[in-house]
Amino acid sequence: MRRKLALISAAAVVATTGAVAVATQAFAASGCSAKYTVVNQWPGGFQGQVDVTNLGDALTSWTVGWDFGNTSQTITQIWNADKTQSGVHVNATNLSWNGNVATNGAISFGFTGNWSGSNPNGTNFTLNGVACTGSTGGSPSPSRTSASPSPSTSTNPTAPTVALTSPTSGSTFTAPATVGLAASATAPGSTVSKVEFYNGATLLGTDTSSPYTFSWANVAAGSYSLTAKVYNAANVTATSAPVSISVTTTGGGGSHVDNPYVGAKVYVNPDWSAKAAAEAGGSRVSNQPTGVWLDSIAAITAPAGSGYATSLRAHLDNALAQGATLAQFVIYDLPGRDCAALASNGELGPTEIDRYKTEYIDPIAAIEADSRYSSIRIVNIIEIDSLPNLVTNADGQAGATSACATMKQNGNYVTGIQYALSKLHAAGTNNYEYIDAAHHGWIGWDTNFGPSAQLFASTAKGAVGGVATVDGFITDTANYSALSEPWIQPSVTINGQTIRQSKWVDWNQYTDELTFAQAFRQQLVSAGFNANIGMLIDTSRNGWGGSARPTAASTSTDINTYVDQSRIDRRIHAGNWCNQSGAGLGERPRATPATGIDAYVWIKPPGESDGSSSLVPTGPNNPGGKGFDRMCDPTYTGNGRNGNSLTGALPNAPISGAWFSAQFQQLMQNAYPAL
Ligand code: BGC
Repeated sequence: MRRKLALISAAAVVATTGAVAVATQAFAASGCSAKYTVVNQWPGGFQGQVDVTNLGDALTSWTVGWDFGNTSQTITQIWNADKTQSGVHVNATNLSWNGNVATNGAISFGFTGNWSGSNPNGTNFTLNGVACTGSTGGSPSPSRTSASPSPSTSTNPTAPTVALTSPTSGSTFTAPATVGLAASATAPGSTVSKVEFYNGATLLGTDTSSPYTFSWANVAAGSYSLTAKVYNAANVTATSAPVSISVTTTGGGGSHVDNPYVGAKVYVNPDWSAKAAAEAGGSRVSNQPTGVWLDSIAAITAPAGSGYATSLRAHLDNALAQGATLAQFVIYDLPGRDCAALASNGELGPTEIDRYKTEYIDPIAAIEADSRYSSIRIVNIIEIDSLPNLVTNADGQAGATSACATMKQNGNYVTGIQYALSKLHAAGTNNYEYIDAAHHGWIGWDTNFGPSAQLFASTAKGAVGGVATVDGFITDTANYSALSEPWIQPSVTINGQTIRQSKWVDWNQYTDELTFAQAFRQQLVSAGFNANIGMLIDTSRNGWGGSARPTAASTSTDINTYVDQSRIDRRIHAGNWCNQSGAGLGERPRATPATGIDAYVWIKPPGESDGSSSLVPTGPNNPGGKGFDRMCDPTYTGNGRNGNSLTGALPNAPISGAWFSAQFQQLMQNAYPAL
C-alpha cells in the first residue's frame, strides 16, 4: 500500500497582525514570559523550542511573535503551532486543539530551522501582540506592517544575562555520575540575586553568590538538557542556551561496535518458538531468532491477564540464560499509531505524547540501561511505518488520510521518535537503534526517496545526540517485497520499452529490497547520517519459493507479460500487504549478507497475522480493540493504493499479532531458500 505520492509541504497560513491582537487586549490583563531554547544545533540546521507562560487573562487563541537575529534563520517545520515568517519576524499561532490557555498556563511548540553564519536566540517575544516582559502590563508591540518606531522600553529593567559554562554540550558521563554545573551571570544596572540550575523543567539547585556553581550528584543513565536561569534584584530573569549531555552505563558491554550482528548469538523468543514448534514441521525453524514486539505499555511488564506471557525484563533474563549476546525489540506504540491503515491501530491517542514518553519509552530505557544486561547488544527497531506515512500519506497527497495529516500537523510522530532515539541511545553503549524505512514498494519512487531521507535526517538531528543516535535502518519489516529480482531490474528493456513502464513496476526506480536498501543507505548518508550506518532487511516472509517461483526470465515481448512471468514477488499487486497468499519464509537471519547490510533478520515473527480478514469485535479474541482493514479481506477488490486489485490476503485470519497456523504452514511450504 501507500506508494508513489509526492511530498507536498504543509502551507497552512494563518495571518494575525499585531494591530488586531492589541485591539482585543484593550480591556484585558495581559502579559507573558517567554523562553527560547536551541534544543540541538548542527551545521546549517537546528531545532528550537519556544515556551511562553500566559501571565494575563485566559486566552482562547494565541499568536506568539518573535524576531530572529538574522535573515538566514528560517523555520522549515513546526509542530504544535502554525507559522508565518516574514524576514526575521515569525508569528506562531495555535492549532485547533491548543488555543485555550489559562492564566499561568503554558504555550509550547517546537520547530526545525536553517541558519548560516550565526544562530542567535530569538528576541522581542510577544503574545497576542503584547511584549513578554515577565509581568502583566507589557507594552503592545508595534504592528508588523507599520513603520512606526518601537515603543520605549524604559519601564523595563535591562535584562540580566547568563551562560552555562560547564559542562560543555555533548559531554558524556558514566552513571552514577556527578555533574559539575557552573554559570557566569551579569545584571546590568542591578545585581544578580540568584542563579538556578535546571534539568529540563526540574530545578536542580540554586546559588546566590559568584562563582555560581552546583554539583549534581548520583545522576542515572540518560540524556539531559541543562540550563541556568539568572534573577536580578528586580526579579527579571534570563535563561541560558541549553547544554545537552548524556550519562551512560559502563557495564561489561564493551565498546559500541559498527555492526552489532557480527559474531553475535541472537536471542530466540521462547513464546514464538513454542508456537512454531507446536506446528507440524515447525521445529525446522523454531530455533530462529525473531523480533519481540513491545506493541503496548502492558508489553513492558506483562501483568497477569494482559495477554503477554513475558515482560521485557524476563526476555532479557531469558537472553542471559540462553547465552545470547544480541536481542531485538520493536518499539511500536506511537501516539496515533498506524495512521494509514486500520489493522494495527494502537492504544495511545494522537495527542498522548506525554504518556508515550513517561509510560512507554522511559520504562523501556530504564530496563535496557540496567547493567545486568550490559553483555547483550540491544537492538531497537523504531516505529514501523510512522515517518514514511508522514511523507506519503499526510496532507496534500492523493492517498492521504486525515489521521496521518493529524500526526504530521501535531508533530507527535517526530517528537516521539526523537524522544525514543534520545533515551534509548543513552541507555548504554550496548544499545543500537534502527529506524524503520518502509520498503521499495513504498518509498522507491524518486518523489518519495529523497524526501523520506530528509525527514529521517531532520528527525534524528533533533534527538539529543543527533544523527549519532542512529545505527541504521530496516526495510521490508512485516512486508513481502522480494529480496532480489534477477530479471526485472529497472535497466531491462523489452521491445524498446523500459521495465519501469510495466503495470507492475509503475515507474518505480527499484524493484527489489536489496538494491533499494543499498541505494537508500547512500541517500541517508548524503542526508547527514554517519557513513557507517548499516541496513537490516526483514526477510521473514519474502521468500516466494514453491512451485509458482519462476526459474528463468520470460521470453514474452509484451512488457506486462514479461514482467508478470519473470517476477519473483508473486503478489497480485505490490501494494498488497496483509497475510499474502503464496508467500514463503525468506533468507534465514544472518549477519553481513551483502554490502551495506548489517543483517537479514526476522522481525515480523512468521505465523503472526497482519490483520483479521473480517471484523472481530473487541472482546476475548480482540482485547486491545484492533481495527479491521479491508486489505486483509480476500474478497475486497481494492482501492487506488493497490490498483483496485484483489488483496491476495489469506482467508480466516485472526487479528494482527495473533497466531495464524494456516499462514505459518504456507510460509514453511514456500520457503526460499527451501527448508
Ligand atoms: C501488530 C502487533 C504485533 C506485530 C507482530 C503488528 O502488526 O499490530 O500487535 O505484535 O504485528 O506480529
